[in-house]
Amino acid sequence: MQDAFFPVLPFADLADRSAQTVQVGRKKIAIVRVGEKLHAVDALCTHMGVPLTQGELQGEELVCPWHAARFCVVTGAKKSGPGFCDLDTYQVRVRDGWIEVSIDKPKPAGPTVPPPAEQPAVRVTA
Ligand code: FES
Repeated sequence: MQDAFFPVLPFADLADRSAQTVQVGRKKIAIVRVGEKLHAVDALCTHMGVPLTQGELQGEELVCPWHAARFCVVTGAKKSGPGFCDLDTYQVRVRDGWIEVSIDKPKPAGPTVPPPAEQPAVRVTA
């Protein structure tokens, strides 16, 4: 099977502890960065379809801005609130400084960590 990863966002453009919605085909996917770990889950709340990236990232959970449903960004599991089901998760990786997502392959358990050679230099400012 052909490699089906699509570049969606420069890694440097996604700040630590933030999430951004990207479009891959017809899917809206939330790319979430927690430290050097990346996660990719459905971007829309399973309750009423609100973009979850407009809510808060608390630990490893996205909190819906409308009715506070909570979803784990690692597993996609709904943790609480009125969402009707879990979020789908996707494989995500970093290549040549770009975050790439596959919507064709199931995500293995656990977060994706960019390999050391793929990680851009991190600039620390005081
Ligand atoms: S729209 Fe997300 S919890 Fe209601």
